[in-house]
Amino acid sequence: MITIKSKKEIENMKEACKIVALAYKEIEKVIKPGMTTFELDKIIEDVMKKNGAIPAEKGYNPGIKGVPTYPAATCISINDEVIHGIPSKTRYIKEGDIVSIDTVALKNGFHGDAARTFAVGKISKEAQRLINVTKQAFFEGIKYAKPGNRIGDISHAIGEYVHSQGYSVVREFQGHGIGKQMHEDPGIPNYGKAGKGPRLEPGMTLAVEPMVIQGKHNILELEDGWTIITEDGSLAAHYENTILITEKEPEVLTIL
Ligand code: MF3
Ligand code: CO
Repeated sequence: MITIKSKKEIENMKEACKIVALAYKEIEKVIKPGMTTFELDKIIEDVMKKNGAIPAEKGYNPGIKGVPTYPAATCISINDEVIHGIPSKTRYIKEGDIVSIDTVALKNGFHGDAARTFAVGKISKEAQRLINVTKQAFFEGIKYAKPGNRIGDISHAIGEYVHSQGYSVVREFQGHGIGKQMHEDPGIPNYGKAGKGPRLEPGMTLAVEPMVIQGKHNILELEDGWTIITEDGSLAAHYENTILITEKEPEVLTIL
């Protein structure tokens, strides 16, 4: 079931989303070689707590047999790690790395979800292009995020754009509706057929999140039960925002 949010619920969504945006503003200011992924996680958790939000990823359990509870406030995935990397006190980021961070704030019963890939110091031209294309893929997708269109229109636009740039999209993970639950209907794949899937309506809130791989689309899961890496060892990037469908253009809630 796809939930339509009331005016009051949308206000709550906006509050949660703003806190995620604030957290990334802080990371942008401080990220540098030599930090650990644990330190980055703590900075984000602190921004949430200061603003009265709960880091919703901590303790999250998708309810799938054999999948352990998620232990941190953020997912931090470096270079060939695609998503769901677990922050660690012994994992240092270094000059040239690309660091994808994904976090979810819960405030007043509503969730805000966003992801960014950050450059650490000076990175290669090709790594920067991957980051740029991943971000642009989100904006290509949400051009179709309007009443009358369907989820498949967003998916198709993202996939076509990414492929036109010579990159691949991850097939096993997707965007999603969001609200009282972190993950609600509908699923929003990053590839697919235009004109298919549920119709968009004002009051829907969606997390649109291209996950883009420099090389082949195939992925592997590490033994920790969470971290997803590219099979071919090529780089990956992630860009996600929570959006609100309105009568006209969508509102991006996790950008200040
Ligand atoms: N924030 C992720 C998403 O975009 C979910 C991460 S799984 C968790 O849907 F366990 F870390 F929460
Ligand atoms: Co998400």
